[in-house]
Amino acid sequence: ESPELEAEFTATVTADGRIEPRDWMPDAYRATLIRQIAQHAHSEIIGMQPEGNWISRAPSLRRKAILLAKVQDEAGHGLYLYAAAATLGADRTDLTEKLISGRQKYSSIFNYPTLTFADVGVIGWLVDGAAICNQVPLCRTSYGPYARAMIRVCKEESFHQRQGYELLMTMMRGSDNQRRMVQESVDRWWWPSLMMFGPPDDSSPNTERSMAWRIKRHTNDELRQKFVDMSVPQAEALGVTFPDPELRWNEERGQHDFGTPDFAELMRVVKGNGPCNAERIEHRRRAHEDGDWVREAAAAYAAKRAARAKG
Ligand code: 3HC
Repeated sequence: ESPELEAEFTATVTADGRIEPRDWMPDAYRATLIRQIAQHAHSEIIGMQPEGNWISRAPSLRRKAILLAKVQDEAGHGLYLYAAAATLGADRTDLTEKLISGRQKYSSIFNYPTLTFADVGVIGWLVDGAAICNQVPLCRTSYGPYARAMIRVCKEESFHQRQGYELLMTMMRGSDNQRRMVQESVDRWWWPSLMMFGPPDDSSPNTERSMAWRIKRHTNDELRQKFVDMSVPQAEALGVTFPDPELRWNEERGQHDFGTPDFAELMRVVKGNGPCNAERIEHRRRAHEDGDWVREAAAAYAAKRAARAKG
């Protein structure tokens, strides 16, 4: 550690500059980036499960094709993010082990079940909408590879959000039963979507430092507020309501007042006690083990080629 290098690092991030893989960085900056990027990647990969659940049961070929494309996009987002974590020296196998053994987290939102096809629309509209609120500022995060990964992710995420909203618009123009399905789904996903943004700022151990290092550009509560303000007019256009009696426009603030999410539930889900945590991790472990033979074959082939190259 040298004071000059530390000063140069601080000057770069404070001036909204980019830190690149070969630049000097504080160990704690590297560690918190590996933590956040890895958990972001894990969220993308685990997030394939709730929606993947409906690919074989989509109501039409069009809906199946759209859902297939979206789930494949999530896999790609995971790969970009694991690649960004690798530029910090993280090893993907190690990260996967940490996910499967519960030593690294993934977004709480994916521990809730997808009970009806309306959930596919609501996840696109609200969950990907929340992800967009969170990921657009990350296009300006101080770590170069993470920011660049986000630019591509955000383009695809807006397709995810639009397809979800269009699916719900279609259902809302359908039968009373379909309209009831949409409202019932919104009632289940609204509060967990607000919890995606994390605990309140005053009980967020990472926010202050992540803001100082320009990893985070807004706090958890700022992004949550932004998401609420963005979603209310969309709900009105759709013809659904949010299950929050305290939700109302506050003229002085120029923002919506809303109720307090159940952060005890968030912590329970984060600690592994949500409705689907065990199922999600078991599925991920099985998929990883089923892929062992592919990794072994690729390693054996690489070793043979290396031996041949040596002559
Ligand atoms: N789910 C799981 N864990 C959460 C969480 C959530 N919703 N909110 C907070 N946590 C964890 C944090 O990881 C942290 O634990 P750790 O120190 O062991 O990592 C702890 O709770 C305290 O929270 P903090 O606010 O102090 O932590 P952060 O500063 O890291 O903020 C975050 C949490 C806002 C999720 C931040 O990490 C972040 O912005 N991550 C990148 C975006 C991301 O991961 N999004 C996941 C949504 S999925 C997605 O975008 C894909 C799309 O297709 C839906």
